Amino acid sequence: SESTASHDAGDKGQYRHYMLKETYEQPIAIQRTLEGRLQAGKVLDSAFGPKAAEILPTIEHVQIIACGTSYNSGMVARYWFEELAGIPCNVEIASEFRYRRSFTPKNSLLVTLSQSGETADTLAALRLAKEQGYTSSLTICNVDGSSLVRESDMAYLMKAGTEIGVASTKAFTVQLAGLLMLVAAIGRNKDVSADLEARIVGALQALPAKIEQALTLDAAIEELAEDFADKHHSLFLGRGTQYPIAMEGALKLKEISYIHAEAYAAGELKHGPLALIDAEMPIIVVAPNNELLEKLKSNVEEVRARGGILYVFADKDAKFESDETMRVINVPHVDELIAPIVYTLPMQLLSYHVALIKGTDVDQPRNLAKSVTVE
Ligand code: AGP
Repeated sequence: SESTASHDAGDKGQYRHYMLKETYEQPIAIQRTLEGRLQAGKVLDSAFGPKAAEILPTIEHVQIIACGTSYNSGMVARYWFEELAGIPCNVEIASEFRYRRSFTPKNSLLVTLSQSGETADTLAALRLAKEQGYTSSLTICNVDGSSLVRESDMAYLMKAGTEIGVASTKAFTVQLAGLLMLVAAIGRNKDVSADLEARIVGALQALPAKIEQALTLDAAIEELAEDFADKHHSLFLGRGTQYPIAMEGALKLKEISYIHAEAYAAGELKHGPLALIDAEMPIIVVAPNNELLEKLKSNVEEVRARGGILYVFADKDAKFESDETMRVINVPHVDELIAPIVYTLPMQLLSYHVALIKGTDVDQPRNLAKSVTVE
């Protein structure tokens, strides 16, 4: 559409930074990636290229390889492949996969996730995996004609439009939509019933509007960002599919505001990180809106009892109450299938507003490149 076309021409329009424009483009980017790929409650195999109809039904194991934000989206997909589809799934950082002895389970699919399609470690990992016996590969990538697209058997073209900000935003959420579609396309031969596939399709079709709703949190998060400007450390907590969203929130804060941020599985607090808690280290909680919520609530109490200052992003039905040591930001109610995607928005907005206060170069953070084409 014209807004992304103008973006491709490289202008920021009314936005102060490309990262903000790309954050606000997520509803349209999701719409574009879904266009022509969902039909009558089903995901079309053609979304993954001409060979998908033949290859995907044979897949019994998925190995995901990626870097950075793309690795974080793969971490979400592991829960989906195993929970929803009953397909074993492993996710690995490309630069680790490349240098260790690994094994290739039979009927495995090697999935690379990459906005640019040129990340050196991810490309080298694909080439190595082929040598190690992977016979089927698929890339979820935003750049048609890139090396990963050319060298994979199948490609899901994200169609998110050019992403210029070094800190990835729309590529992450579009990757997650593509991964949820892949879970359905492979899972229909295993545990994904026609009803579950229809639920997945419905949740994806509702996604652009849900992201629009999440974007209305912008002003509240801008105000919240003030609390982080003078901090040097922060801890992001999540459980289940919200744990990789905590990872993404921590990565965003690190890379554009230069504040040290670490993500932790909330259930792990008592195994060490609880020793870190004090009023100088804000704790950001990405609350799940499923059966893990009660567990997370007790993790929150562990932190409060030790004087931690919390910022909880939760469904209003979770009934978290703000008080002097806990700020609650209610996120629009969503099907838990797409909660990780929708809860990413506040994470992106938080890091953006903190970076603005810090005065960093939001679109070109120090020491970073948009595509890491060298090791
Ligand atoms: C994300 O905000 C970073 N810019 C970086 O971690 C990025 O996700 C990583 O370099 C992978 O890039 P790719 O998706 O193009 O392979």
